[in-house]
Amino acid sequence: MTRMTVNGQALEYKLDPQTPLLWALREASNLTGTKHGCDDGACGACTVIVDGRAERSCQLPLGSLEGSVVTTIEGLSANRSHPVQLAWLAEQVTQCGFCEPGFIMAIAALLQASPRPSQQQIDALPNRCACGAQPRILRAIRRASAAMTEAAVKRPATPPNR
Ligand code: FES
Ligand code: FES
Repeated sequence: MTRMTVNGQALEYKLDPQTPLLWALREASNLTGTKHGCDDGACGACTVIVDGRAERSCQLPLGSLEGSVVTTIEGLSANRSHPVQLAWLAEQVTQCGFCEPGFIMAIAALLQASPRPSQQQIDALPNRCACGAQPRILRAIRRASAAMTEAAVKRPATPPNR
């Protein structure tokens, strides 16, 4: 049995500890937004956020995840309102859509850690798009970065004195 929190919900998976997280999410939790692509860690379609880091869920055995906090595309935001999701729509990134949940999760984790990522950090994303949407994905990253940076500037660091 593996206990973890998925999209804010405490869960116990009674599965073989070698079961990849991808299949626990898709088959046991019906969270099918996380995609099954290459199965060998190369494409990034299965990316979710685990304890704040983007991880390829096809490569993570459940037994290594006791107590972890997992976020999938379904839990990223209410009403698809995360800045990366909004930028995705604004830049009309979508083609077949298969790579997109993984890309969005990887970018959300990147921007959380580095709100203004360098081109080198962006190039280091392991995700791949077979439809050739990379130029629009790059624009979406820049747009989301700008939105998140602007929101951080507007937010006061400490509450004003009353
Ligand atoms: S399915 Fe996991 S990296 Fe491709
Ligand atoms: S939109 Fe089709 S694989 Fe990326």
